[in-house]
Amino acid sequence: MNHNGLAHPIFQLVSKESKSLGFKTYVVGGYVRDLQLNRKSKDVDFVTVGSGIQLAQAVQKRLKNASLSIFKNFGTAQIKTDDWEFEFVGARKESYDRKSRKPKIEDGTFEDDIHRRDFTVNTLAISLQKDDFGKLIDTFNGLTDLKNKIIRTPLDPVITFKDDPLRMMRAVRFASQLDFKIESTTHKALKSEAKSLSIVSQERITDELNKIILSQKPSIGFKHLFDTKLLHQFFPEMVKLQGVEIRDGKGHKDNFYHTLQVLDQICERTNNLWVRWAAILHDIAKPPTKRFVKEEGWTFHGHEDKGSRMVKPIFSKLKLPLGAPMVKVRTLVQLHLRPIALTKENITDSAIRRLIFDAGEHLEDLMILCKSDITTKNKIKEQRFQKNLINVEQNIALVEERDRIRNWQPPIKGDEIMNLFGIKPGKEIGIIKSALKDAILDGIIPNNYNDAFKFVIEQGKKLGLQLHE
Ligand code: CTP
Repeated sequence: MNHNGLAHPIFQLVSKESKSLGFKTYVVGGYVRDLQLNRKSKDVDFVTVGSGIQLAQAVQKRLKNASLSIFKNFGTAQIKTDDWEFEFVGARKESYDRKSRKPKIEDGTFEDDIHRRDFTVNTLAISLQKDDFGKLIDTFNGLTDLKNKIIRTPLDPVITFKDDPLRMMRAVRFASQLDFKIESTTHKALKSEAKSLSIVSQERITDELNKIILSQKPSIGFKHLFDTKLLHQFFPEMVKLQGVEIRDGKGHKDNFYHTLQVLDQICERTNNLWVRWAAILHDIAKPPTKRFVKEEGWTFHGHEDKGSRMVKPIFSKLKLPLGAPMVKVRTLVQLHLRPIALTKENITDSAIRRLIFDAGEHLEDLMILCKSDITTKNKIKEQRFQKNLINVEQNIALVEERDRIRNWQPPIKGDEIMNLFGIKPGKEIGIIKSALKDAILDGIIPNNYNDAFKFVIEQGKKLGLQLHE
């Protein structure tokens, strides 16, 4: 094995200090897997047959600018240096009592430790002993599975998943992230054990879900989540998108697979997790708004409004952040049909100004969502739709340059209106401000101070207000 991945001086240090302490130490887990796949990683896990904490303390003493954190309760230690993170733990043996979720953990041999791991590709280890430094140890043919792109548990998958049901999400995450297949016995166990995901905390599930969403082609992961019914355990709103109903010979598209296509397409345009979430949720209210209208066929009127109202409860349930990310997703879901409406003929500048105002800082992401929302199989139509959206973008740019609506602030603030008429805060201020905003967005007056000033005086007079001397 070449030593490319072991160039950081810490590996030699760990080797030396282990020897002095009489321990045997190995690099294990994701770092070794990613090394074989030429994926760069700066997270390293060491397993030592001895005390991980003692070893980390000895190593840290010999390093400059390295911080050490000790987690006594877990028997682990972490060293951070530059942007690397090194975890140290003693080799373990776990025996699980199925009634309690906490495994009984005892000291174990290196072999015990490797046997309790989740997937064969994660059982690879590198020896750091002086006499075989850098030697790859492959107990479960992990290398072959890596080469053949296969996710498989080293032991009976039912037991592996019962031990920690989060591993089911990890199986799907690795399949999506690495574009690997899930071996059939392992896949069967995902189906039979899916329900036990309920004992895992939503935070851990969502961490894995976000990793799936951040992979290059998340549809791979979502199809597994759906087929195994893992998705049903925590995201029933998305499950409901699946299926086609036919009435009077008229069907509609399957919104689950449409959503996945939009998601894959948006991934080619952005790495932003929240814009990707907007793709997942853009049609989420299609099932609850679905109607069959005799003359029209299937309609989903108002799905953008209802969908935007579903964003916060879904974020809350999935333990996603409720601040700016949620607001972004909610705005994008709410507005996802608006740019398409602007591709029609005879669009007024006022409609464009309103969209610029409503989308604000999310406008570029909204256009990315709309371009990704085109899933027609007809190439000619697809090109036409894309071109229409590019036209909309050009029109937006023209209006924006002229009227500066983005991040719009009223040219006259509430304080000034109060001073002008000598009034205290009250509903008149709101009425005047909202009339001013509409007048500017509708192009009745230009977006500047002097015109706004005249307009505010007129509005005040209409409300029976007198100018303050
Ligand atoms: N592991 C496991 N079961 C889990 C989590 C982790 O068996 N539920 C083992 C695997 O051998 C894994 C190692 O612990 O390789 C380290 O876990 P972690 O750092 O969470 O994952 P990585 O495999 O390193 O992958 P990534 O860094 O991409 O999350």
